Amino acid sequence: MSNTSAPPPEAAEPSAEHIAPAPRVSVQAFCETVETAAAVQAAGEDRRLGRAHLKVQMGGIVAANEAYSASPTPNVIVIETEGRGSDILSGLDQLANVCDAGTRVIVIGRLNDVLLYRELIRRGVSEYLISPVGPIDVVRAICHLYSSPDAKPVGRVVAVVGAKGGVGASTVAHNIAWSVARDLKLDTVVADLDLAFGTAGLDYNQDPPQGIADAVFSPDRVDSGFVERLLSKCADHLSLLAAPATLDRAYDFGEEAFDAIIDTLRTSVPCIVLDVPHQWSAWARRLLTGADDILIVAAPDLANLRNAKNLLDLLKAARPNDRRPSYCLNQVGVPKRPEITAADFSKALDFDPIAIIPFEPQAFGTAANNGQMIAEFSPGHRASQTFRALAQSLTGRAEMKKSKPGILSPILEKLRKRA
Ligand SMILES: Nc1ncnc2c1ncn2[C@@H]1O[C@H](COP(=O)(O)OP(=O)(O)OP(=O)(O)O)[C@@H](O)[C@H]1O
Ligand SMILES: [Mg+2]
Repeated sequence: MSNTSAPPPEAAEPSAEHIAPAPRVSVQAFCETVETAAAVQAAGEDRRLGRAHLKVQMGGIVAANEAYSASPTPNVIVIETEGRGSDILSGLDQLANVCDAGTRVIVIGRLNDVLLYRELIRRGVSEYLISPVGPIDVVRAICHLYSSPDAKPVGRVVAVVGAKGGVGASTVAHNIAWSVARDLKLDTVVADLDLAFGTAGLDYNQDPPQGIADAVFSPDRVDSGFVERLLSKCADHLSLLAAPATLDRAYDFGEEAFDAIIDTLRTSVPCIVLDVPHQWSAWARRLLTGADDILIVAAPDLANLRNAKNLLDLLKAARPNDRRPSYCLNQVGVPKRPEITAADFSKALDFDPIAIIPFEPQAFGTAANNGQMIAEFSPGHRASQTFRALAQSLTGRAEMKKSKPGILSPILEKLRKRA
């Protein structure tokens, strides 16, 4: 119950924690320190707040009270206060008088005080963060307002993309999705974004009359009922949003073309695997940047290495608060082909591939021709074990067991329950 001596910001490291993106909400922050203002500003640039409108001002609770005495309040107000408990509470009581119904308040303060915390919650404050805070703490607090644990499950998006064409990205994506559904029993949708040439229908032996094109060409109709009708069921827990794979239309889309579909899937499906074609359009970049996890599939040659590095660099920079994308090597060991080794990939990219999948034309070729996954065609095949491990890792299962909770989270969780 005293001033904390600057605990490290909780989860300041980019983490694999799943935080569902916030909807289009307005957020205004009133900070007292430049450090917190910078953290909130950086949070506003995080992909998960990409839809939100965030404005950061200085002046703390006094400035907030002044601002809102004359103007309507936004969806979320973030208040930083360096003050003492009684000052904080009286400031908030004033704010309550000018707050519109439905406005949520997040308070950032230095005091680590249970009684204060309870009082804040009693007054309707949604969250109390103990400073210093990192951008991800602010992202988490805002996003959690719109996806509390008792709210509907919110889907996790895993994007799979090839560092070059033809490296097996779709094959890997489909096998991983199958394993997520089959082994982890998570409801999963594979969205085939290669509208002209996508192979998900072939790989799962499906030929549905409808699919992703129906949604992307009628964005106004996209809601969960509509998208539900476009899915074709491949197996227990696994559905496909298939590509038409026909060439009668050209598939030039705007940057946000797939937003509505993915937002809709996120509200009802726990795992969404995006089979992203190897191309660099605005929408492909947006899908990758906005995914919760990314897997780059590379074959072991120089062009793949260069492209994987460029993709990693760009995506790391665009997603500073996220776990970096993973990569795997595929089609390794083609007879007589000179290859770049996994060790050289690791050295050039600074980290190891999460899987190395050998070139096995017999197994992969037969499975593809049969419209089967490797694990269906040959359950004991080592590639099917690899896909299971990838499924676990990309859905956060493997890390969940390993990861330690943040220092403060158990205490706050308890407090929250008591409050
Ligand atoms: N490990 C592997 N061993 C042998 N063949 C493989 C392996 N992985 C994929 N393949 C085969 O490589 C071919 C290309 O695979 P796939 O269509 O998945 O690649 P892609 O990267 O999605 O291609 P595109 O750029 O056309 O989207 C397929 O015939 C597939 O069966
Ligand atoms: Mg493909």
